[in-house]
Amino acid sequence: MTVHDMHGLTLTGASATSLAAYEQALAELQCYRADPVASIDRAIADDPGFAMGHAMRAWLHLLGTEPAGYAIAEASHREAMTHAATRREKGHAAAIAALLGGGWHEAGRILEDIALEHPHDGLALIAGHQIDFFRGDARMLRDRIARAMPHWDAGRPGYHSVLGMYAFGLEETGHFPQAERIGRQGVEIEPRDGWSQHAVAHVLEMQNRSVEGIAWMTQSEAWAQDSFFAVHNWWHLALYHLELGQFDAVFDLLDQRILGSGLVTVIDLIDASAMLWRLALRGVDAAERWQGVADRWQQSGQPGLYAFNDVHMIMALIGAGRTQAAKEVLAALAEAAHGGGDNARFSAEIGLPVGQALWDFGRGDYASCARRLRAIRGMSRRFGGSDAQRDVLDLTLIEAALRAGDGALARGLAAERDAMRHESPLTQLFLRRAQALAS
Ligand SMILES: [Fe+2]
Repeated sequence: MTVHDMHGLTLTGASATSLAAYEQALAELQCYRADPVASIDRAIADDPGFAMGHAMRAWLHLLGTEPAGYAIAEASHREAMTHAATRREKGHAAAIAALLGGGWHEAGRILEDIALEHPHDGLALIAGHQIDFFRGDARMLRDRIARAMPHWDAGRPGYHSVLGMYAFGLEETGHFPQAERIGRQGVEIEPRDGWSQHAVAHVLEMQNRSVEGIAWMTQSEAWAQDSFFAVHNWWHLALYHLELGQFDAVFDLLDQRILGSGLVTVIDLIDASAMLWRLALRGVDAAERWQGVADRWQQSGQPGLYAFNDVHMIMALIGAGRTQAAKEVLAALAEAAHGGGDNARFSAEIGLPVGQALWDFGRGDYASCARRLRAIRGMSRRFGGSDAQRDVLDLTLIEAALRAGDGALARGLAAERDAMRHESPLTQLFLRRAQALAS
């Protein structure tokens, strides 16, 4: 008997029992919580010929850009290929194959076609949305979801996830009021939805509403309960405190929530590195904290796989004083720039120049750092991440201009920031320091 999911999508090889585990895995993924890998493993144990079970297992191991996830995803992909029978299932297998081969854009395009045909395929939407994030396609972060929106409503399970994704896409394309409204709606429907929570956090970050941001993250911490995305949301909370110059709160969050998480995933390592780097830019000594982060990168990182990760690894290694290791990551970036797959362009266009700029900053060549960052700043989206994450490049640039004594550039950059974040104590500090420099 053919089994269908709650939206009527055919699931080859599933039974009633494995279907329940599959739907649980998807619901968990849609909240970024609990353990969707354990749930999907249960589904596959029940029905080893469950094509979409294998596909979901592959996506779960690919969407964190974890080096260790690739081998598992490859094995799951082989199973998904073997058992896929419908066009949709074959499409997932093809998209997974594209991503395994380094084709971020191709994988995103195949998932587009699946979702155009099956707008209720929540897995195709979420996998595509994450791919849009990693390849820095803000327009598709929004419009992949906008296309599906007319097919969803509050009565349909998983709606909160679609709202959260749409809100984030709207935020990354600058539609802040609409993004905030839709993101809040997602959290209202499902308070444990870490991505809807996160979309609103981004709006509050981009609009420099730091005090409101702190309230938003602390009024209910349902988003943090049993969440594998919690570290990143704690990072957003720390970011508001940092903007306000509340360093004790930043260190509390850093020690208890970010470093204290054990830095299990690459995303955790990115957040830890970025927060320590921002503190260093502020002249705040994070002391030995760098060492643990650098250790974890060296244990589990794999330079040359994805440029956005590599530049954060370089931050941690420079911060920990491990210059030789940082040089090795730079060499891996340079090699990746001439390698295959979409990461070659991510590395050549943005990753390598940013890595070199960080290197310059670390050795005190601030003028060279500023020169390199100015050259790529306007197109830095191309190596993935969010506007809020890439703000670290602007912060590094302005600090480099200040330390290089380039008064004209520093005043220009401070004025830019003042236009967007006037109420920020950090902006005011930049303005004062820039104005104190000679022309
Ligand atoms: Fe974020």
